[in-house]
Amino acid sequence: MKRAVEEVGLIFGDVGLGQFQISLSHAVERGDYLTINDEAQGRVLCQLDDLRRTSDLNLERADEIGRGDVSTPIHERLLGSVRVIGYRDGQGLVKIPTIPFRPGSKVYRAEEPLIAEVLGLKHRGNAGAYVGLLRNHRLRIELDINQLVQRHVSVLAKTGGGKSYLLGVLIEELLRHKVTCVIIDPHGEYGSIRYPAEKNGASPKFAVEAQGFARQVQEFSPDVSLNPSAKPLTFSLRHIDPRDLLVFMGLTNIKSFLAPLKDLVEAVAATTPEYTVKDLVRAAERGEGAVAETLHERLEYLEQTKILGPKGTSLNELVVKGMATLINLRGVAPDVQELVVARIALTLFDNRKKGKIPPLFLVLEEAHNFAPQQGSVTSSRILKNIASEGRKFGLGLCVVTQRAARIDKSVLSQCNTQLILQVTNPLDLKAIAQSIEGLTDGMTDMIQSLPVGVALVTGGGYHTPLFCEVRPRASRHGGESVRVVEN
Ligand SMILES: Nc1ncnc2c1ncn2[C@@H]1O[C@H](COP(=O)(O)OP(=O)(O)O)[C@@H](O)[C@H]1O
Ligand SMILES: [Mg+2]
Repeated sequence: MKRAVEEVGLIFGDVGLGQFQISLSHAVERGDYLTINDEAQGRVLCQLDDLRRTSDLNLERADEIGRGDVSTPIHERLLGSVRVIGYRDGQGLVKIPTIPFRPGSKVYRAEEPLIAEVLGLKHRGNAGAYVGLLRNHRLRIELDINQLVQRHVSVLAKTGGGKSYLLGVLIEELLRHKVTCVIIDPHGEYGSIRYPAEKNGASPKFAVEAQGFARQVQEFSPDVSLNPSAKPLTFSLRHIDPRDLLVFMGLTNIKSFLAPLKDLVEAVAATTPEYTVKDLVRAAERGEGAVAETLHERLEYLEQTKILGPKGTSLNELVVKGMATLINLRGVAPDVQELVVARIALTLFDNRKKGKIPPLFLVLEEAHNFAPQQGSVTSSRILKNIASEGRKFGLGLCVVTQRAARIDKSVLSQCNTQLILQVTNPLDLKAIAQSIEGLTDGMTDMIQSLPVGVALVTGGGYHTPLFCEVRPRASRHGGESVRVVEN
């Protein structure tokens, strides 16, 4: 069935190659796709970037109307700014005409086949991650999985904007395509991906069936008493240097404790090469004075956490081809979280370089805490390394944050696919505008008022930013239930 071609307005004024103005005769929305018949190239795809209403109403007349005088009518016009997206040339490349359109040319609403062709909305088969539909259309947006893993991803939105939900969608797709994932989950909210979604009330246009991923999900946590669904995550005591040991012990006063702890470890190691935390506790017990007492007490605490053992969790347990490994850090102190993230990231990067583990996707929630723009934390350096070099080794990084302005700029700028949901903080918007190419002022403006469930997608195999209605989850979303438990 062919829809009637709907005329929406006329080009007027000065016409640029990349943008022009139209006077609108029909209602269109910001973001709508339009088309023009170019004399040389045929149909060219454009997008309405901004709308405004002009009128002949001056201040004096407005005052008169305010006093009740309604004798003369107001003449008003609806005008739009349009950006040219382009057409596909003989080789399938997107081009924009080299001569501006003529003023007075008619502008039409674009039809879906043209939109799909120019935007490149095609079925990617085994390489596509179906994340949603082009806003106001039935066209699927499938991100190129190879691009995601090779060229990094950022997911940006304010709290409650839908980051975790969208990431859940992405992880479902990666699991369907048997892509190995490691997910740093500071709030323990991704475990619910094991279970199928309850009735989601979502529109059937998305064609999503409920599905759980229990067989492809495993979970580890340094704190299994708080997170009983997880297996214990442990590190090998002998591979932890005294400085990091202090972090695991929860001691921040390095000046007072580092030297005594070093001495203690060295003395124990000299007599007991296979020493355990228990051996350190015993040695500390024999010490005298306030420092020794604190060390003793904190080592006892460390022993209880069981995070340091003779053998750490092995790489083969942690990374399993085609599975998602959740690192649940719920209830773990922030500096210990940083250390855990640093050690895991380092292990993954080293072993990926040596080809000992399959290519994988490392997801980092609350990324601004692990690679902050201001200052440096334990995990900063390795994450910057992965952002700049991970692609060479098939280690994809996905950073998720509600504070785009607070995450390290060098990390953010390495992300070639951005999934942006509603952002209102001006500093965060500025950081986003600076890190993304091809974002128009109109789009930056629209990011502030995106409804929940609509994302601006840039990269991912597409050459122009797209507004995406995120598809419903097949598995259960975990964000809410966790919040109830934490309260
Ligand atoms: N695409 C979507 N469709 C339906 N509901 C959504 C969608 N995205 C988010 N939500 C809802 O919005 C709320 C916040 O989403 P969440 O992903 O937890 O936000 P964030 O991680 O950004 O803080 C959740 O309760 C979730 O159910
Ligand atoms: Mg979240």
